[in-house]
Amino acid sequence: MPQHFGDYQHEIYAGGLRGELPGLPVAAADLEARAEAALPPSVWSYVAGGAGDEHTQRANVAAFARWGLMPRMMVGAAHRDLSVELFGRTLPSPLLMAPIGVLGICAQDGHGDLATARAAARTGVPMIASTLSADPMEAVAAQYGDTPGLFQLYTPADRDLAESFVRRAEAAGFQGIVVTLDTWTVGWRPRDLTTANFPQLRGHCLANYTSDPVFRSRLRKPPEEDPAAAVAHYASVFGNPLTWDDLPWLRSLTELPLILKGLCHPEDVRRARDGGVDGIYCSNHGGRQANGGLPALDALPGVVAAAGGLPVLFDSGVRTGTDVIKALALGATAVAVGRPYAYGLALGGADGVVHVLRSLLAEADLLMAVDGYPTLDSLGPEALVRL
Ligand SMILES: Cc1cc2nc3c(=O)[nH]c(=O)nc-3n(C[C@H](O)[C@H](O)[C@H](O)COP(=O)(O)O)c2cc1C
Repeated sequence: MPQHFGDYQHEIYAGGLRGELPGLPVAAADLEARAEAALPPSVWSYVAGGAGDEHTQRANVAAFARWGLMPRMMVGAAHRDLSVELFGRTLPSPLLMAPIGVLGICAQDGHGDLATARAAARTGVPMIASTLSADPMEAVAAQYGDTPGLFQLYTPADRDLAESFVRRAEAAGFQGIVVTLDTWTVGWRPRDLTTANFPQLRGHCLANYTSDPVFRSRLRKPPEEDPAAAVAHYASVFGNPLTWDDLPWLRSLTELPLILKGLCHPEDVRRARDGGVDGIYCSNHGGRQANGGLPALDALPGVVAAAGGLPVLFDSGVRTGTDVIKALALGATAVAVGRPYAYGLALGGADGVVHVLRSLLAEADLLMAVDGYPTLDSLGPEALVRL
C-alpha cells in the first residue's frame, strides 16, 4: 500500500487541537528566514550564497513559476502512488536529498551528516552523501537503516585517492556513485569572497580525506599532528578537470550505478549515455558554480529527451512539493532537494530534516490528490501549461 504522505497535515492540525503549533516553519520562505537567524553568518553565507550576483540561483527558483499544473476532476485520486523504481530498487517516493558538503557545520552539534542520514532512515528519502563531510562516509552510511544511500564523488586529481573513495563507498554499502562534474574548481562567490571564508580551507568537512589511507600516505605527518599540511594537500588534490576521455576510467572504477551530476546540454547527456553511465543528474549546482546560465529546470526537457530512457535525477531550485511535481512532469525520474533540508537541519537536527522532507512529500501528494494525478505515470508534460 503506497504511503499517504499528505497525512502529515492531519498530524499538524490534530496538534493544533491540543494547542500545539508546528515547531518548525512550514512555508519555504519562513524556513529560510529562520535558518538565517539560527546559523552563524559565515555558514549562512556559504549555504545560501551562490555565484556572481546570484541571478542563476534566483532564476532556478523562478523557473518553476513559469509552469502551471492543469487540474483534472472526477479522477477519484483517493490513493496516490509516489513510489518509483531507481537503479533496481523501489523507493517510496521520487524525493532524494542532494549532496551538500557542509552539512556537518550546519548542525548545532557539528555532525550534520549523521543527523541527515538518520533523517533518511526515518523517511525513506535517500541521502546522496557528499565527499565533503564532517564524519567519514562509513559512519554516515551506518545511520541509513533500510534506506539506500548514494555517494557523491568529487573526483580528486590523485587517481589512487579517487579509487580509494569508491572502494570505501562500495564497502560501506552505498548503492551508487554520483560524480559531480561542475565543481573541479570553485565558482566566483562574492558572499564568501567578501568574508574571505571557505569552510574546507579552514579544515571543515574533510573527514573522508583525513580518514583515507591513500590520502594519509601522501602526508609527512598524520592530519592530527599537522592539520595545516592536510588542508594544503586536500586543496592540491581536490579538483580534477575531467574530460570525456576520463569517462572510461570512471566507469571502470565501479560496478555500482554510475551517475554524472551537472549535465544540462543534450550533447553531454548523449556522450554520458554512450560512455555507459547508469543515470543522468541534471543540475546547475543551485547556481553556486556558474552565474549567467539558464535555470536548470529549462534544461530538463532536453536532458530527458537525450537520456534515451536512462533515469534522470534533477535538482536546483526545488523549494516546494509543487516544484517536485513539476520536475517530475517534465520528465525527471527523481527530484533532489538541496538548501531547504540544510535549513531544516540547522533549525532542528534530524527532526528538522524529517520535517522538511515530510512537508515536501505532503504537499506533492496533496497536489496529486487535488489536481487528479494519482500516479507518477499520469503526470507527464501534457499536465503542464507554460505560463
Ligand atoms: C551549501 C551547499 C553545499 C553543496 N555541496 C555539494 C557537494 O558537496 N557536492 C555536490 O555535488 N553538490 C553540492 N551542492 C549542490 C547541491 O547538490 C545541489 O545541486 C544544489 O543545492 C541545488 O540547488 P538548490 O539547493 O538551490 O535547490 C551543494 C549545495 C549547497 C547549497
